[in-house]
Amino acid sequence: MEEKELKAEAGSGTGVGDEPRNGADPSALPAEQAGRTDEVSVEAQETVLEFMAVAAQQNEAANEAVPERRNQPGPYIAFDHVSIAFDDLVVLDDVSFFVLPGETLCILGRSGVGKSVALKIVMGFLKPDKGRVLVAGEDISHFSERELQEVRRKVTMVFQNGALFDSLSVGENVAFPLRERGDLGEDQMQQIVRGMLEMVGVAGMENLLPSDLSTGMKRSVAIARALASQPEAILYDEPTTMVDPLMAHLLGELIERLKTQLHLTSIVVTHDIRFARKLADRIVFLHQGGARFFGTVEEMDRSVDPILKEFLTMDELVLPV
Ligand SMILES: Nc1ncnc2c1ncn2[C@@H]1O[C@H](COP(=O)(O)OP(=O)(O)OP(=O)(O)O)[C@@H](O)[C@H]1O
Ligand SMILES: [Mg+2]
Repeated sequence: MEEKELKAEAGSGTGVGDEPRNGADPSALPAEQAGRTDEVSVEAQETVLEFMAVAAQQNEAANEAVPERRNQPGPYIAFDHVSIAFDDLVVLDDVSFFVLPGETLCILGRSGVGKSVALKIVMGFLKPDKGRVLVAGEDISHFSERELQEVRRKVTMVFQNGALFDSLSVGENVAFPLRERGDLGEDQMQQIVRGMLEMVGVAGMENLLPSDLSTGMKRSVAIARALASQPEAILYDEPTTMVDPLMAHLLGELIERLKTQLHLTSIVVTHDIRFARKLADRIVFLHQGGARFFGTVEEMDRSVDPILKEFLTMDELVLPV
């Protein structure tokens, strides 16, 4: 079989010591003790917002730099008639959609329809068989690995399992992109790390290893690490599934805040229609290899497509209000 997977998910896998050390399983702690709280301290907020203000300015500049088409802003990310198959299995067939700079696109669809594959194509981890893929306004379809690495500085992905570096502490995971920059002092970095962790709801967990954390906490740390690299766009794969309702709420709020405060362009794969309604500027619904629907939330609600309507109703059954 042709080798399509160009780069493994960094640090995925369970890694060393799945057993919590010293019996300190933070997921077993009450929410407040585990650092999971809706309240973010003023100090942490200031540190993070100051850090993010720089990113926001950069993002605005980057958004403006995306080429315009007929006086409309051009897409930041776009699939243009994209197809991909694995041997005989056609996963995406002639799929087109786009995300404008600063906007959020939600990808909906049943399990196995190709949502994660679509995100991996945006990151350049998978190459499409046909079609063009625009990222940061550039066609990356024929980019070399080195060029793709440049793209990955602008666009970062939060994997379901967090894909953290297993052997590094939580604090060092978040500090990783800050250290790579080389222009921040140790105190400054630690302050940003503390603020970031508090912001994403896992305060005070700097010294734990990823294997000590629950799924939701790993994801929160992964978002903090993604933010520390001050990206222009973030791709989230099912950010609110497999976590408790409080964590799902915190993650949802966080993603919303990042959209409004940071002007981050985002793609969110989700099964949670209510979350998608709240967050999305546009929605793409994948079904049997195709983009069955692509449009705004209002357009989705007006759609008479029975397949789309069935999907929306089924989700309501799974997620009672
Ligand atoms: N590297 C690969 N090699 C072969 N097949 C693959 C590869 N990656 C994905 N697939 C197949 O592509 C299809 C779509 O997978 P994908 O992970 O994108 O589904 P999904 O929509 O994200 O599903 P879920 O909601 O369960 O996460 C699946 O049938 C999967 O087995
Ligand atoms: Mg998936």
